[in-house]
Amino acid sequence: MANTVIIGAQWGDEGKGKIVDMLSAESQVIVRFQGGNNAGHTIVVNGEQTILHLIPSGILHKNTLCLIGNGVVLDPEVFLSEIDALAKSGVEVSPARLGISRKTHLIMPYHKIMDQAREAARSKGTKIGTTGRGIGPCYEDKAMRAGLRAGDLVDPDLVRAKVARALEEKNILLRDLYKVDPVDPEAVAKGLLALAPRLIPYLTDVEEHVAQAMKAGRNVLFEGAQGCHLDIDHGTYPFVTSSSTVSANAASGSGVGPNTLHRIVGIVKAYTTRVGSGPFPTELEDETGEILRKNGHEFGATTGRPRRCGWFDAVILRESVRLNGLTDVALTKLDVLRGLPVLRICNGYSYEGRTLDYPPQGEGSLGKVTPVYEEMPGFDDDISACKSYADLPEKVRAYVNRLETIIGVHISIVSVGPDREQTIVR
Ligand code: GDP
Ligand code: IMO
Ligand code: MG
Repeated sequence: MANTVIIGAQWGDEGKGKIVDMLSAESQVIVRFQGGNNAGHTIVVNGEQTILHLIPSGILHKNTLCLIGNGVVLDPEVFLSEIDALAKSGVEVSPARLGISRKTHLIMPYHKIMDQAREAARSKGTKIGTTGRGIGPCYEDKAMRAGLRAGDLVDPDLVRAKVARALEEKNILLRDLYKVDPVDPEAVAKGLLALAPRLIPYLTDVEEHVAQAMKAGRNVLFEGAQGCHLDIDHGTYPFVTSSSTVSANAASGSGVGPNTLHRIVGIVKAYTTRVGSGPFPTELEDETGEILRKNGHEFGATTGRPRRCGWFDAVILRESVRLNGLTDVALTKLDVLRGLPVLRICNGYSYEGRTLDYPPQGEGSLGKVTPVYEEMPGFDDDISACKSYADLPEKVRAYVNRLETIIGVHISIVSVGPDREQTIVR
């Protein structure tokens, strides 16, 4: 038995969906432990693409149980439309293989309205660039003990009371501060209760399922969303998401002890991307950045926004290794670098007259560093059909080996294309 945690080691969109799907072939239970439908996880099987925002990326493997843990925030409408879309394409999504923790918080219509109104009110330079999916306001309600949880759906009176209480405060903000229409609590409660009969069959005790599976010697896979540097504590605050994205949260976000987590795989893009605002030392706002965006199809899987692109940043990565206790790394999108004459790797920062090999921690300080680069020769070969590490051209292996050396963790998986098959296990 081996339990594995998958986390994004950069700023999200590293290819977690693809690797979770691949490792699901050897796992019986897959658990999402944080975030919500701000995530967009892409899986490609035989050329056919599926983008999942909420349902674990193990769902395409027939014999898996997919669970949504207590650390997730769940938009009921998105959940139902996602299962409808999967069912339409022939995927079994009955409660026999899909469950939601009773403790999972629900994203309510007013969370989305708050998220969007607040972003709109922020002045240039202070906008976070959120996905507008209500993620932040939902976690706020959780922390201020005003949230609705999935388990509440069985109690209509509790739903109505909680909605009314939440809106007492929010409607003042919406009407008087953000100058948007207040929300009718009756209509919100009615809307949610209308979805309840479809949601209730999915309610389950996630921690118990996971504990039983572990006891029976099954492999459990924990699927992270976003990336380590979007973490609410360790990320580039305030330009972060509202949940804990580091590996430790796989335990508390799904209700298991940290001693059950054996392998922690960081998903790492062979370069760097970021969506939304915030510091990004190796960002390329030039033709090379355009090439990466075009060749890597770097447009958000959730919002369609163009992703900011830049060189590989080993300083950021070393911090990810430390914060997550990575046992190994899956390096993705290596094929995208094809055709660039030179590959640059940031291996240090120049900051206030010093050279740092780890990121400065003060708020905004990452925006003030200058990357110190080393260079490696690029490659022109098409590597997208390579099946083994030995098949990769020498220049490509040299790049991978160099990354491995400077981040200090074994690169166990190399991805050379979006398809499930385009993966090299070392
Ligand atoms: P996630 O949020 O971490 O699951 O990543 P996304 O799905 O948002 O973004 C990754 C994108 O890269 C998706 O379009 C994937 O299909 C694609 N992808 C994943 N691995 C590779 C790879 O090795 N090469 C290429 N060219 N594309 C990849
Ligand atoms: P996956 O799981 C990339 C970013 C948003 C914004 C910030 C806060 O696909 O890797 P939020 O809506 O969470 O309050 O937005 O976080 N963000 C992501 N960026 N990939 C994601 O998920 C993201 N989820 C949130 O762009 O900058
Ligand atoms: Mg994504």
